[in-house]
Amino acid sequence: MKALNVFLGFILLQACFSFINSQIAHGPGLDLGPIRTDLQNSETQIRNLKRYDYSFCKLYIRDNTTGFEAYTTFHPRVDEFTTLKIPMSNVSIMGNENVVIWMEIPGNKSTTSFYTYNATVDVPKSCTYENGTRLTVTECTDPAVATYNVTEYVMKQGNVTKYGNIVLPPKHVHDLGKNATVNYFTVVVQLANGAITDAVWDGDRINACKDCDQCIDGQCAAKYSDLGCDIGGGCQLKIFMAWAGLDRLKKPCISINKIPSNFAKYSSTSVSKLGLGLLSDFFYRINDNNNNPNRA
Ligand SMILES: *[C@@H]1O[C@H](CO)[C@@H](O)[C@H](O)[C@H]1NC(C)=O
Ligand SMILES: *[C@@H]1O[C@H](CO)[C@@H](O)[C@H](O)[C@H]1NC(C)=O
Ligand SMILES: *[C@@H]1O[C@H](CO)[C@@H](O)[C@H](O)[C@H]1NC(C)=O
Ligand SMILES: *[C@@H]1O[C@H](CO)[C@@H](O)[C@H](O)[C@H]1NC(C)=O
Ligand SMILES: *[C@@H]1O[C@H](CO)[C@@H](O)[C@H](O)[C@H]1NC(C)=O
Ligand SMILES: *[C@@H]1O[C@H](CO)[C@@H](O)[C@H](O)[C@H]1NC(C)=O
Ligand SMILES: *[C@@H]1O[C@H](CO)[C@@H](O)[C@H](O)[C@H]1NC(C)=O
Ligand SMILES: *[C@@H]1O[C@H](CO)[C@@H](O)[C@H](O)[C@H]1NC(C)=O
Repeated sequence: MKALNVFLGFILLQACFSFINSQIAHGPGLDLGPIRTDLQNSETQIRNLKRYDYSFCKLYIRDNTTGFEAYTTFHPRVDEFTTLKIPMSNVSIMGNENVVIWMEIPGNKSTTSFYTYNATVDVPKSCTYENGTRLTVTECTDPAVATYNVTEYVMKQGNVTKYGNIVLPPKHVHDLGKNATVNYFTVVVQLANGAITDAVWDGDRINACKDCDQCIDGQCAAKYSDLGCDIGGGCQLKIFMAWAGLDRLKKPCISINKIPSNFAKYSSTSVSKLGLGLLSDFFYRINDNNNNPNRA
């Protein structure tokens, strides 16, 4: 039943976009699979849209007791603050300690992994003792030869570098022991002149969790009882997506200033209260010059 609820919540996942005037940059020109050309009006054809450029992302969810795993694709606009809201997540995800979520973002990130291996090296040894006597070693029978090689084994470090999409580490949503829940996740995507070079969970930055009531896998969380999940309203999992770095036109991204951890610097609202019932208030304030469709 839980798995079914997760599934229902998941297929209903909506991507809501905010409409901020910003300079749109091209994404990295990569995607998470082949682009089908036989589909009209499909999200796979999103690149045909002329007005904005999109980047593909995948949001994964796994319930490790039922084995349920699914993903959905979405396409945030570059340098626009995006909120993903997962309806019914109050039931299926928010109080479920077995659920992890993670994201995959197209890019060409290098990941280097290290390994050790047993290597042979030639170690030169002198053909003479300290007292000048020559060794009785076949390599040293020629009096003109000063050294000979001995093969030894040493452990060496090797490395492999792979290029691929950026996969953020899975994060738990609920911690039964703390009775706490992460009710919003923030992903920051790093751009270098319009190309995605990296992405992180906002909470994975150093000390990012220090102002939070609770902390789960490094992300800001709140007491489950504070979220009003029994009432419904404020208790739906949200994922904020913001952009940092320089866009295609070398203009600094502005959406990074709107993530909750930055926003809190300019606000009397504490981080722990953001994303409870106060989210629409939050959006109003960051974006009060237009009719924001977000009511996350
Ligand atoms: C499933 O998640 C729970 C809660 O985090 C954890 O204790 C358990 O080890 C996980 N099991 C597997 C098979 O990953
Ligand atoms: C990713 O970057 C590396 C190093 O710059 C490059 O060799 C490789 O071709 C790139 N891969 C793609 C798919 O762009
Ligand atoms: C390395 O390989 C040699 C030859 O097989 C072996 O004698 C030696 O114990 C190995 N060293 C290590 C650290 O495994
Ligand atoms: C000197 O030479 C002899 C071989 O004639 C050798 O056995 C001995 O170890 C050498 N070394 C020293 C320090 O005497
Ligand atoms: C000893 O090993 C080194 C490095 O492998 C090599 O250049 C040299 O020719 C070797 N010397 C002898 C005497 O085999
Ligand atoms: C990775 O291995 C190469 C040789 O294969 C070496 O030149 C390079 O320095 C290594 N990189 C790191 C970070 O260790
Ligand atoms: C967690 O909080 C809920 C709501 O306040 C409460 O009903 C439940 O008993 C708590 N669970 C634990 C393990 O403390
Ligand atoms: C979950 O939220 C929905 C609104 O999205 C609400 O109708 C429902 O009653 C809530 N369920 C629980 C168990 O809180």
